Amino acid sequence: MNKYKVITLFPDLIEEWKKVGIINQALKNNLIEIATVNLRNFGIGEYKQVDDSPYGGGPGMVLMPEPLDNAILQNEAKKNVFLTPSGQQLNEDLIQELLKYDSLNLICGRYEGFDQRVIDMHSDYEISIGHSVVSGGEIPALYLLEAILRRIPNVLGNPESLTNETFVNNQKDFPVYTRPETYKDHKVPDVLLSGNHKEIDNWKKNNLRDI
Ligand SMILES: C[S@@+](CC[C@H](N)C(=O)[O-])C[C@H]1O[C@@H](n2cnc3c(N)ncnc32)[C@H](O)[C@@H]1O
Repeated sequence: MNKYKVITLFPDLIEEWKKVGIINQALKNNLIEIATVNLRNFGIGEYKQVDDSPYGGGPGMVLMPEPLDNAILQNEAKKNVFLTPSGQQLNEDLIQELLKYDSLNLICGRYEGFDQRVIDMHSDYEISIGHSVVSGGEIPALYLLEAILRRIPNVLGNPESLTNETFVNNQKDFPVYTRPETYKDHKVPDVLLSGNHKEIDNWKKNNLRDI
């Protein structure tokens, strides 16, 4: 069973996400294991400090190396993934590569990010989920986890959902429709109502557009 740990200052975000949808089902069916590691527990001193101002000046705070270093050392995994906006861009190939490891640590930054030394010491991957910056690594970590988990056998109700998906073979998925047949003058394509499976399959193939 694949095991994932999310190292974060905001474990509640991850724990709430675990309660819904296919992730919740997958956890209940013991298909995956997801644990949160509260970085605050590794903080320094009475106030459990985890961040400090940057050397050389500048705005904001930086996550200190020691709490992160200790959190990672006490939670060994096959690979350590740091979520960073400047990291390698997430795509389907990278997700397939990450699926090979039966344990991953996903390490979430906050504020101005990680002290570079902890990245130099522990990083196997630095991954970005897109060319925009959000306030913390938790949503990027959840995005990455959802992309990985839906590819684990039996997590999705129907594995066929994965075969024609957007980005598979550099194509966009075909458009999909459900009841009613006509909605505000917009009609479902006739072929989908024809019952002719050969023609329906052809229509689907012809509507997989290049990305
Ligand atoms: C406000 S950001 C830090 C931004 C940093 N000063 C910079 O410009 O690269 C705080 C944290 O959010 C996470 N983060 C923000 N945007 C991200 C993205 N596009 N992909 C992955 N992680 C991201 C990272 O963990 C980062 O350390």
